[in-house]
Amino acid sequence: MMNNKVLRIVFTICMGVITISLHAKSIGKVTSPDGNLTVTVSLSKTGRPYFTLHRGAEMILDKSQMGMKLKSGDFYQNFKVLSSKRDRKDETWQQPWGEETEVRNHYNELSVNLQEKCGAKRLLTLVFRVFNDGMGFRYVFPKQHNLKNFVIMDEMTEMTLPTDNDAWTIPVEGTEFLEALWTKEKMSTKPRVYTPITMEVKDDLYLVFHEANLTDYATLNYEAKANGKGGVTMKSELTPWSTGELVFASAPFKSPWRTVIVGSKPADLIASRLMLNLNDPCKIEDTSWLETGKYVGIWWGMHMEDYTWGQGEKHGANTANTKRYIDFAAENGFKGVLVEGWNEGWDGDWGSNGDLFSFTKAYPDYDLPGLQQYAMNKGVRLIAHNETSGGAKNYEAQLEDAFALYHSLGIKAVKTGYVNRLMDKKELQHSQYGIRHYRKVIETAAKYQLMIVNHEPAMPTGLRRTYPNLVSAEGTRGQEYNAWSQDGGNPPYHICILPFTRQLAGPIDFTPGIFDFKNKVYPKTHPQTTLTKQLAEYIVIYSPWQMAADMIENYKDQPALTFIKSVPTNWQQTLVLNADIGKYITIARKERGTDDWYIGGVTDKNARDMVLDLKFLDQDGVYKAMIYQDGPGADYRTNPYPMTITQQKVKASDQLNLHLAPSGGFAIQLCKIK
Ligand code: NOJ
Ligand code: CA
Repeated sequence: MMNNKVLRIVFTICMGVITISLHAKSIGKVTSPDGNLTVTVSLSKTGRPYFTLHRGAEMILDKSQMGMKLKSGDFYQNFKVLSSKRDRKDETWQQPWGEETEVRNHYNELSVNLQEKCGAKRLLTLVFRVFNDGMGFRYVFPKQHNLKNFVIMDEMTEMTLPTDNDAWTIPVEGTEFLEALWTKEKMSTKPRVYTPITMEVKDDLYLVFHEANLTDYATLNYEAKANGKGGVTMKSELTPWSTGELVFASAPFKSPWRTVIVGSKPADLIASRLMLNLNDPCKIEDTSWLETGKYVGIWWGMHMEDYTWGQGEKHGANTANTKRYIDFAAENGFKGVLVEGWNEGWDGDWGSNGDLFSFTKAYPDYDLPGLQQYAMNKGVRLIAHNETSGGAKNYEAQLEDAFALYHSLGIKAVKTGYVNRLMDKKELQHSQYGIRHYRKVIETAAKYQLMIVNHEPAMPTGLRRTYPNLVSAEGTRGQEYNAWSQDGGNPPYHICILPFTRQLAGPIDFTPGIFDFKNKVYPKTHPQTTLTKQLAEYIVIYSPWQMAADMIENYKDQPALTFIKSVPTNWQQTLVLNADIGKYITIARKERGTDDWYIGGVTDKNARDMVLDLKFLDQDGVYKAMIYQDGPGADYRTNPYPMTITQQKVKASDQLNLHLAPSGGFAIQLCKIK
């Protein structure tokens, strides 16, 4: 490991005793399997660990320090190297559902075992994994005599960029439930931000900073500072407990991975599976009960104020209305019906009364077992809705009973919600407190064979690999903002940014498919898209469960519904055909188990004409293409509705000429006929 030949003599004063230690600066290097990326790990003169990252000779990350501050004292310097170990892996694993079936996990690993040179002589191991598409590292606290229970007061992790780059981020301060618009500015000007952070360094260098496997720890955020040398140092700032502590732990203990994706074009970021690879393999032994699909729901009606969640004349979750939705689902091939407001607790100020929710008792006008039976007779299932309003203790106290009940009825999915900044009126959702709660829900759900769609979640970190019953999450400004946000709804560029930011963390329950753009809540608020762009969202936004979010009456006699009925939600392969972050993106996905492809393209407020190459299709195949395009005069500002639907035969050597209206899009189904 001592590959730096220049040895230096360093005098260190430890606990009043002068020790002389000999050490080299670099304590190890590890490269990606293709040799392109190199992580160099070093110890400073004071025994402080840091790393750098290079792509060939090009520096991607400059000296970036590591370590911890514990309640019992600093734990980031005075280290010496005890030993180091190398490992490598090249395996391919299968996703029960996903953007593609197979994922290659190919990396080289370096673990550096450190020990404090004096004092308690505590041990800390740094584990680095370098992939062809980036790197991750984690802190491992081995079992040891002088470190048992400990409290992390600060994680000293840094990511030091040699230049100040444009980055897309959402701020921590002022953002509720991760529901903010992503903005692009120089990193040095940003306040404390959530991850992922997506960065454009130059034409052929894009970076994403995030974390993987957030387990019993606090959420990683970064705060950037110009470092006076033209670069920027981002330091980790974990979400604290209300008492100011960050993480309570006991050795042996592992932190989540701190990840960096390195791409030479935006599409590389979407193709990276580094975050999933840094999570543990699936812990659910039998995954045969997991499903993917589409659902409708008694939902948009509440957001449009046609219905209420609570009891009264406009109570949406009544038996008759739910039957209407079940009938519609059965007729149109939707597997699920979400019903919000079915359970006790919604009357009054529900957002502040999380402790009043019952997750087993239905309102008198809602026949839970009868409706589930009615649905199952038609091949449909109810999706249970559990809004907690942040009452985590109240929810946890009922979890076993509620999930046992849903399982016994044949319900397979639960949408959870946390409309309250604080959990149990005290702790931040993204603190260790919140992270423990979300995990408890996922694990209990797995026990009862229930899938979870988590609204107001922790930012996903790839846990879906370990718990594939965590099928989707919100954690973004979703469709609901197009019902009631006072700023008019999500702007046209929003969908053109999400695939490169929030979606890199995992599936999004965005709930596309609004067909009626008229609004009673705020007349100026509506989807800032064309109707065709609503269809394209089913491809561009990835989720194994996708909602058709509008009220079912708005789908009556709508030819565009045919696309939603046909579009799958589980994929064998995913390709980005073109992209410019925030401006446009086209994604092609191949359905699992068939030879059919689906393509979705979206643009920002600017109209665009595109020539789409179909060379990714089977060379000798012939496909029937159903093409949904913005029609003449379509414009999100004046007339979102015009759409042309055409059918033609295509093959791999063909090109399609497509027109996208302002904030428009296209959606294409390609069925292989030969
Ligand atoms: C916020 C969720 O995002 C939304 O989908 C839900 O309808 C409400 N909370 C009520 O639970
Ligand atoms: Ca929400």
